[in-house]
Amino acid sequence: MDLKVEFETHFGIAHTRWATHGVPSAVNSHPQRSDKGNEFVVIHNGIITNYKDLRKFLESKGYEFESETDTETIAKLIKYVFDNRETEDITFSTLVERVIQQLEGAFALVFKSIHYPGEAVATRRGSPLLIGVRSKYKLSTEQIPILYRTCKFLNKDWNSANVKNICKTRMKRLDSSACLHAVGDKAVEFFFASDASAIIEHTNRVIFLEDDDIAAVADGKLSIHRVKRSASDDPSRAIQTLQMELQQIMKGNFSAFMQKEIFEQPESVFNTMRGRVNFETNTVLLGGLKDHLKEIRRCRRLIVIGCGTSYHAAVATRQVLEELTELPVMVELASDFLDRNTPVFRDDVCFFISQSGETADTLLALRYCKDRRALTVGVTNTVGSSISRETDCGVHINAGPEIGVASTKAYTSQFISLVMFGLMMSEDRISLQNRRREIIRGLRSLPVIFFSFFFLPVSTFLYTQRSLLVMGRGYNYATCLEGALKIKEITYMHSEGILAGELKHGPLALIDKQMPVIMVIMKDPCFAKCQNALQQVTARQGRPIILCSKDDTESSKFAYKTIELPHTVDCLQGILSVIPLQLLSFHLAVLRGYDVDFPRNLAKSVTVE
Ligand code: G6P
Repeated sequence: MDLKVEFETHFGIAHTRWATHGVPSAVNSHPQRSDKGNEFVVIHNGIITNYKDLRKFLESKGYEFESETDTETIAKLIKYVFDNRETEDITFSTLVERVIQQLEGAFALVFKSIHYPGEAVATRRGSPLLIGVRSKYKLSTEQIPILYRTCKFLNKDWNSANVKNICKTRMKRLDSSACLHAVGDKAVEFFFASDASAIIEHTNRVIFLEDDDIAAVADGKLSIHRVKRSASDDPSRAIQTLQMELQQIMKGNFSAFMQKEIFEQPESVFNTMRGRVNFETNTVLLGGLKDHLKEIRRCRRLIVIGCGTSYHAAVATRQVLEELTELPVMVELASDFLDRNTPVFRDDVCFFISQSGETADTLLALRYCKDRRALTVGVTNTVGSSISRETDCGVHINAGPEIGVASTKAYTSQFISLVMFGLMMSEDRISLQNRRREIIRGLRSLPVIFFSFFFLPVSTFLYTQRSLLVMGRGYNYATCLEGALKIKEITYMHSEGILAGELKHGPLALIDKQMPVIMVIMKDPCFAKCQNALQQVTARQGRPIILCSKDDTESSKFAYKTIELPHTVDCLQGILSVIPLQLLSFHLAVLRGYDVDFPRNLAKSVTVE
């Protein structure tokens, strides 16, 4: 098939679908259409929870469905509203507004229609949507309307010398051919996307849409219709300039984004701490939290909520947070937290950890806690994301854009952000000063240590295996969970993170000569207990690959293979011990021939519940 097809259009829509309803197939892919004549087409990110009722209603009106998607109901519904309009001159935006009044769930939508040629209408509720704005001729904001008016004028008689001269005089910095070219193409281009990284190569100027905003582009002009919900609701939408650079999201010399992101960690952890940790005075200042510190210190408990890797960052730092804040700390998977209708009180402080800042479960948990008047704190990697906007205060982890679906550098930066929060909370605690100094020294040396142990030891031996257990306890339990998650995500091997303390309560039954086991054993307060687990494994002919400290001869003599790690402070060790597991999963996936950055069935940002 020749893929180089040229289209005569100024506007196109496309969507990479993460299947919620209906298998991935041509008929279920987007855009979905209202009918065979493509009167209305729509792309949709999110999930429509009342689609069955809508579909039933539309079927009763004679609409025939061709896909299994929830999205198709939207395409049919807009045609239904159009076919039943009371006036001929109804606008495209009004149609869309009526449609979304009937929708429940989460959505970001972009519509196109043969009834409104050249027009695009986009809207959102619950799912992210932004508009990139690019002026074609590097014009200033003042110049754009002049060019626009000039082009309109030119449209009447664009070839006349007179018009060229007018154009030249009005737009001194442009040559006339540029102006004339703009007659057809318009001066400004707009990009609708869920994530800034999709459009950053075209523009860094974006408008973030809010829930129920309806944005329409017609005749080269953007208008945003805002459904104002309360008096305090700000109806204006400013253009923001993103600091993200294109090279930040390019692969460079690496074969995959994930690999690049693993190797970026010395830099990304440094960026997380930059300007926040003062190594001379042993103090930490998180600007986004400083005004709320008093309130946080008075709270009943901290609840740290996230999904996937972000949840593991919460597990990894729980102990040090308990130690430094002297508060009870609950860590929660967002979905389970909601399922349980967990009691939340107004004197609770709830942290929401999310790389993307858009994960639906975490966002819903945030709204749940807000309704109960708890103070909400966002820890995200995405400026302008829903979680960073909707929380009362927060920390930006500054890890830089993360593209690989399997999260790596965001984990270590989330880890450090939470440790920094603990350090900030404990500044006045006399009894904790030595510990604080020790941790801050550890943070300082992290970026340097990172580079000293990148190597590929055991993947060739493991890649043909079907299963892999990862065991540890204490500060490194989270390392095991996170390592096992990386392995399942991109190698499709069965992998389990096991708390070594639970070994004798079940997992020991899995151990034999064949079962591949990785054990994380560090010189920390759990060392003796980990030795115990090691004995239990080797006594059952287990052949553990041991991740241990450089000087640990005690563990390595029982190892089938050893991966040695540099030593750091116990509560920071997890930042280093996760790296070999990230690398291992990467190499296993490459050896098994899988797409490292885009594993099957998974999405980077899961904006559906
Ligand atoms: C998805 C991604 C994971 C990520 C999780 C939470 O499942 O594939 O890599 O850890 O979402 O994402 P968040 O953006 O909230 O950290």
